[in-house]
Amino acid sequence: MYITINKAECLKTTPNDDTPLGFGTIFTDHMFNMDYSIEKGWHNPRIDPYGPISMDPSTMVLHYGQSIFEGLKAYRTDNGKIQLFRPKNNLKRLNGSAKRLCIPEIDEDFALEALVKLLSLDKDWIPGAHGTSLYIRPTIIAMDPYVGLRSSHTYRFFIILSPVGAYYPEGFNPVKIWVSKDKVRAVRGGVGEAKTAGNYAASLYATDQAQKQGYTQVLWLDGIEQKYVEEVGSMNIFFVIDDEIITPMLNGSILSGITRDSVISLAKHWGMKISEKRVGIDEVFDAHNSGKLQEVFGSGTAAVISPVGMIKYNDREITIGDGNAGQISQKLFNTLTDIQYGKAEDPMNWILPLNI
Ligand code: COI
Repeated sequence: MYITINKAECLKTTPNDDTPLGFGTIFTDHMFNMDYSIEKGWHNPRIDPYGPISMDPSTMVLHYGQSIFEGLKAYRTDNGKIQLFRPKNNLKRLNGSAKRLCIPEIDEDFALEALVKLLSLDKDWIPGAHGTSLYIRPTIIAMDPYVGLRSSHTYRFFIILSPVGAYYPEGFNPVKIWVSKDKVRAVRGGVGEAKTAGNYAASLYATDQAQKQGYTQVLWLDGIEQKYVEEVGSMNIFFVIDDEIITPMLNGSILSGITRDSVISLAKHWGMKISEKRVGIDEVFDAHNSGKLQEVFGSGTAAVISPVGMIKYNDREITIGDGNAGQISQKLFNTLTDIQYGKAEDPMNWILPLNI
């Protein structure tokens, strides 16, 4: 399919190296758009100026949340080259979410081609300062103007780009997380493993409760017994107990994180003991009591590796280690970011260098 390019007439000023970027508030000059109808399939791929999407108030995505998205990043290396980290995994996962949400799948190779075209047009927006990158948000939304409940017959696939710094205001400093006792993010047979809007909406109430008490994020327990650790919502979670790295095994209600998978692969590559298994929250607190809980950290595209310094569950609050980032978290963060920014070898072939 031929991608039409409609360039913006007026270009915005790109942030300079001293502009504090934060996360997700600045958007580039262009976006990719493509439409779906039953008659035409995915059609009309185009790059347009970044701007509002006009939609009817009855548009289905607004009412029933048939919406899926991805998050990946483009990095600028020290010698000015641009590269992506495991982009095919994101597009594959987008199609996995599409299947679960009854959304027509996209051609992953074509979506990557479209992304590279968009990046080549907006490449000046890819920041170069330490710890910054261009966050890429591919999204598909249901577009039928209809308030009855069924899956939509029309969709919009779009990709937007945002220059970003650290996701958490804490940066790489440890975050404090709060275990929600009565709210759950996902249930067995639900949509927990899909990257769909509703999962994030479901997390807001408890996140508010956590933040009111001074915690950054919620640690979610399973939706059935509320005993087993699942994820943090903006990241997957890892515990280091007695020299073993442990992360909850994927069970249908946990997002299959690409950074999570990268952590597992790196740990195996280094010969560390790593397991994916069910982790009870009591086990975590017991391990802390017996002095065996060495580190806790989260992983995600936005968060990268985020050390956890404190966990609160019921009336108990524990400090992990001395409250600072642990050695394993630090090593994973350094290695992942060195690979992403082209400062280190890429033994797993995760990097896609772009000729743009
Ligand atoms: C990401 O890490 O890419 C996500 O989508 C998480 C989101 C809360 C920013």
